Amino acid sequence: MWLIDRAMSGLAGQLGEPSGVVGGVVGRLLNRGNRSIVTAAVEAIDTAAPGVVVADIGFGGGVGLDLLLRRVDAAGSVHGVELSATMLADARRRFSDDIATGHLVLHDARMESLPLDDASVDAIISTNTIYFIEDLAAAVGEIVRVLRPTGRLVLGVGDPAQMTKMPFTQHGFRLRPIEEVIGVLRQAGFADVEDRRLSADSGAFHLLVCDVSADGISRRQ
Ligand SMILES: C[S@@+](CC[C@H](N)C(=O)[O-])C[C@H]1O[C@@H](n2cnc3c(N)ncnc32)[C@H](O)[C@@H]1O
Repeated sequence: MWLIDRAMSGLAGQLGEPSGVVGGVVGRLLNRGNRSIVTAAVEAIDTAAPGVVVADIGFGGGVGLDLLLRRVDAAGSVHGVELSATMLADARRRFSDDIATGHLVLHDARMESLPLDDASVDAIISTNTIYFIEDLAAAVGEIVRVLRPTGRLVLGVGDPAQMTKMPFTQHGFRLRPIEEVIGVLRQAGFADVEDRRLSADSGAFHLLVCDVSADGISRRQ
């Protein structure tokens, strides 16, 4: 029992900040396991506009960066924000060509303190990250600050009832009720928040599609 507990605690730590050789493996597993979720998040933002600026916060194994880089045109740019040195090093290796052209900019930073200018980003995705963030209001406030008035955030969150069944989430995960997360998003300044479920199951993953301005509703895909 003690060993299982220790393994679950280690796994939770790796998911919150993948590190070392094990972290590299975790990054690849995240890419495989979360590809459909991250793809849905990318599809919920507008990447077709010329020169669009987008970001993936807490990109982990980098599947979101890859999908965004394939969609954004040469005049546009992708920002990747991560606190894990291992995930940053992996992304630097994997996307060296895109970094060299300036198409991709990686930031060693946290969601709570984004190294991006005010009103400089068109769209942000962030999936499976808020379980590791203590001050969600501060983090979401930062996202609102860097988004343009026409901007959109797509926040991917596991259903808390479903997540509670996963033993590793008992080791430090913050599983907030979805209504609480939506309340924080509205309070931070999002005029519209839509809770899209990835399937009809009661425990389906949530994609919270958040527009800074109510005008964003007309741009919905
Ligand atoms: C479970 S992984 C999810 C990775 C990817 N978004 C996905 O869905 O596959 C969480 C990632 O968020 C990063 N992370 C955790 N807290 C963060 C924070 N405060 N700011 C930015 N990234 C954070 C971790 O280092 C980790 O790579």
